[in-house]
Amino acid sequence: MLLFLDTANVEEIKEINAWGVLSGITTNPTLIVKEGKDFKKVVKEICNIVDGPVSAEVTATDAEGMIKQGLDIATWADNVVVKCPLTEAGLQATAHLSKKDIKVNVTLCFSANQALLAARAGAYFISPFVGRLDDINQDGCALVEEIVELYHMQAIETRVLAASIRTPQQVTRCAIAGADVATLPFKVFKMLVKHPLTDAGLTQFLKDWEKVTAEQPVAAKK
Ligand code: E4P
Repeated sequence: MLLFLDTANVEEIKEINAWGVLSGITTNPTLIVKEGKDFKKVVKEICNIVDGPVSAEVTATDAEGMIKQGLDIATWADNVVVKCPLTEAGLQATAHLSKKDIKVNVTLCFSANQALLAARAGAYFISPFVGRLDDINQDGCALVEEIVELYHMQAIETRVLAASIRTPQQVTRCAIAGADVATLPFKVFKMLVKHPLTDAGLTQFLKDWEKVTAEQPVAAKK
């Protein structure tokens, strides 16, 4: 499972990118607005930093408007992916853009049937929203499992991109379910790397090392 970062914050992107584990970025209008920058400018900047797909979402609600925006967004960078919502107009726009070989990430997916429709429209990614389902007392990871199975049974190539991830446990469950990608907020990336036993173990190793180097400086260098 590839790991994407769900943000439009350039500093966060640079920090996680430096770890060597980052395969792409997802943004949405809320995340873009939060940064207070020009949409096109910030997407182009992110596309330059990250060697992988960067999703940028259309904001029109009619198919014609989404297609117009999608065609424009697709010219911003080679690695940009147009994001369309899972509505009737969104499916129409996805079908149109996909036929022109533009990669589309269909977002706001909350059911397996919606995922089937997106795949039939030619979506490159489908984004089931795990956390938002958990928020209403449903099992978001179970939806990811269902879509992965459905796509496998139907030999569908659309990639499953688990979105709206809030916890490290959801990351593990999505990976075990066979999701192709999970997009994580910065905070969850930081939580993934941390373990108190790693910190305690390293502190002890370094303490022992310092003791030896202080007592036998020459031996420690060998
Ligand atoms: C995905 O592409 C979305 O940007 C994102 O994962 C939504 O997450 P949220 O439900 O935490 O807003």
